[in-house]
Amino acid sequence: MKMHEKHYANRRKSVLKMIDEGVILIPAAIYQIRSNDTEYPFRQNSNFYYLSGFEEDNALLLLQRSKKGMKQILFVQKKDRAKAVWTGKRLGVSGAKKRFLVDKVYAMEALDKILSTVLRGVQNVYIDLYDRKEFFHHILGLCQTLHHDRRVKVSPKCFLHVNSLIEQMRLIKSHDEIATIERALAITAVAHETAMKVAKEGMFEYELQAKIEEIFRANGARSDAYSTIVAGGNNANTLHYIANDAKLRQGDLVLIDAGCEYEMYASDITRTFPVSGTFSPAQKALYEMVLQVQLQVIAAIRPGIRRSKLQKLCEEKLCAGMIALGIIKGRLKTVLKNGMHKKYFPHGVGHWMGIDVHDQAPYNDEQGKELRLEPGMVLTIEPGLYIDKHDKSVPKRYRGIGIRIEDNIVVTATGHRNLSQHIAKSVAEIESLCVGVTPAR
Ligand code: GLY
Ligand code: MN
Ligand code: MN
Repeated sequence: MKMHEKHYANRRKSVLKMIDEGVILIPAAIYQIRSNDTEYPFRQNSNFYYLSGFEEDNALLLLQRSKKGMKQILFVQKKDRAKAVWTGKRLGVSGAKKRFLVDKVYAMEALDKILSTVLRGVQNVYIDLYDRKEFFHHILGLCQTLHHDRRVKVSPKCFLHVNSLIEQMRLIKSHDEIATIERALAITAVAHETAMKVAKEGMFEYELQAKIEEIFRANGARSDAYSTIVAGGNNANTLHYIANDAKLRQGDLVLIDAGCEYEMYASDITRTFPVSGTFSPAQKALYEMVLQVQLQVIAAIRPGIRRSKLQKLCEEKLCAGMIALGIIKGRLKTVLKNGMHKKYFPHGVGHWMGIDVHDQAPYNDEQGKELRLEPGMVLTIEPGLYIDKHDKSVPKRYRGIGIRIEDNIVVTATGHRNLSQHIAKSVAEIESLCVGVTPAR
């Protein structure tokens, strides 16, 4: 959702208010080489986008706070007629001046010269210390020159990780951000439900992937939010299975973890359904158990609760379910204490989601204390159960089954709202969507 420029300007102001003095540098993403002279599809840097809404590559935000006040400067690429023939038009300096509510706009070419002036008298530089090392080292080089210049009395000596500031802001989503996630989920819903309708024995996993991604693109999503997982049968037990190159087999379940990115916001949904259209009794027993766990964990979401509490609840309920079904033997307390269930549920209950599918946001405060959920936070809840086909410690009927059920939840003042509530999930809903036609031979 395109927001009014003043919202971005206010976000920049809010970041500046988090520091006493210093310069904040946030570069846009740059194209990455895929091979030789071809590039990966361009994806804007999430923090740069959050603070500007600008989608061009090779730009930079410079925000400054000093005793004299706050300053917002944007650097963009100049218009270039020759390049425009190949890569299209850019906004350019004059276009950017008209669009953005910043104090100044310069061409990227002027960056070093302007920085050499701006950084005089500045102590603190807030910058991404980890993911843009080349850029960071370039800035260090400029600061070093100032450091050795005897005429410069004060130059930067303190470099701080700027992402930590922005991540805190990104944790609480505005009404507009939640609406954008809901639009992403509306598209993702069609993709998952179509996959349930068209899946059949003999189809390759990548055919379902293609169908899902076609629906993403055809509905205005520019990309998936992460690599689509289509995992038939035992492949679902590989958590990050993205080969998607096996045939779907009659009698197997298929796990699909797929979500589109719509206007820079992610969705992250997993559904698991039978290739044949009907769950076998063993599949149904496991599925119903995981679903009940998921519903109970979601029901516990409210302001004040910690994510670790949700993790604990999820593990307890899954353990109890696994013991009841004869997958693990032992007393609940002992099983939990010894972590015997981790073999079958090795991952977290969920994660923050927003501009990134795993949103860059802290789980602990600066003192290391775990955060409590607050209204506006968006997280996934994704319990799973993964039983390898060779696991002889488990009754045969359960082997080779991998199940995950994942929804996207926003915390509200009174509890929560499941933003993906509408995507078929109960056994009855899934079976009525899955046609499960056996192809003619
Ligand atoms: N699709 C990535 C995840 O569920 O975390
Ligand atoms: Mn997830
Ligand atoms: Mn997922």
